[in-house]
Amino acid sequence: MPERWLLTGGTGQVGQALRRNPPSGVEIVAPSRDQLNLADLPPLAPVLTGIDAVINCGAYTTVDRAESEPEQAYAINATAPGRLASAALVAGIPIIHVSTDYVFPPDGVGPWSEDQTAAPGNVYGASKLAGENAVRASGARYAVIRTAWVISADGSNFVKTMLRLGAEREELQVVADQIGTPTHAGDLAGAIGAIALRFTNDAAQHSGIWHCANAGETSWYELAEDVFTRAARRGMAVPRQVKPITTAEYPTPARRPSDSRLNCSKLTKDFGISLRPWQGAVEQIVAELASEGT
Ligand SMILES: NC(=O)c1ccc[n+]([C@@H]2O[C@H](COP(=O)([O-])OP(=O)(O)OC[C@H]3O[C@@H](n4cnc5c(N)ncnc54)[C@H](OP(=O)(O)O)[C@@H]3O)[C@@H](O)[C@H]2O)c1
Repeated sequence: MPERWLLTGGTGQVGQALRRNPPSGVEIVAPSRDQLNLADLPPLAPVLTGIDAVINCGAYTTVDRAESEPEQAYAINATAPGRLASAALVAGIPIIHVSTDYVFPPDGVGPWSEDQTAAPGNVYGASKLAGENAVRASGARYAVIRTAWVISADGSNFVKTMLRLGAEREELQVVADQIGTPTHAGDLAGAIGAIALRFTNDAAQHSGIWHCANAGETSWYELAEDVFTRAARRGMAVPRQVKPITTAEYPTPARRPSDSRLNCSKLTKDFGISLRPWQGAVEQIVAELASEGT
């Protein structure tokens, strides 16, 4: 009998990647927002009947808008994961919950380990931390997987925004004083699948938080430069100039960590998983978009 996993956020970057490549022997059940609204969840016992694990990739992810919509952000990022985890406890199944580097403070120094104190500097990060805490307090077996700077050929993300703007403008200005670890949605989905399988197949697998990102580090500016170098090689439209600017020169409603690099060594130690360097992920995305004619 195949395992059946309930996936929220199946239309998002990470959810789409997991649906496209589920682990072998796993059937993904991915209700849409209309069928399972995280802002207004129905009773969950019937939803979890016949389900072996909950994978919570659904989230309120518009970081700047969260500053003016905290109720929505908390409903989806904090209350819903708590409800899903409590229902998972009752059903006797594990929950794999995806969280973020933005739980770390705006002015701290990474790479961040799982045991370092979270202190979010914006509403989105605070709502995600509240979600982690609700999952941890539920009593269910859980994995909280924090990731960062998710990129893919799907949905909206930094790589796609750069290619769109780069095709429209002669010059782009990109923040150079925020550093982090980009993460390919497909690589992350592979890790989520392996972790979830460990939880469903090994009752002794302990709960915890794990960081998961591609290897290496970069700034938004360097990432943009890398994207355009690869795009130009494939004949895609790129700007004439990319100019590094400071965060102060590009004010946004939400304050972001200046250093959100994640230390992922615990993931390697506990699950034998290490993701490839981020440059390979960018190459794959640019190649996919070039072949689609984007
Ligand atoms: N993107 C990043 O850079 C980043 C960085 C760190 C951590 N993360 C975390 O990684 C996880 C996956 O992110 P992602 O990039 O895949 O997100 P995404 O592409 O923005 O997708 C978000 C998903 O959540 C769903 N969703 C939002 N509100 C919902 C609601 N009220 N009811 C049901 N579904 C709802 C969306 O459905 P619709 O299609 O219907 O809107 C979509 O499927 C999230 O936990 C996020 O916090 C992301």
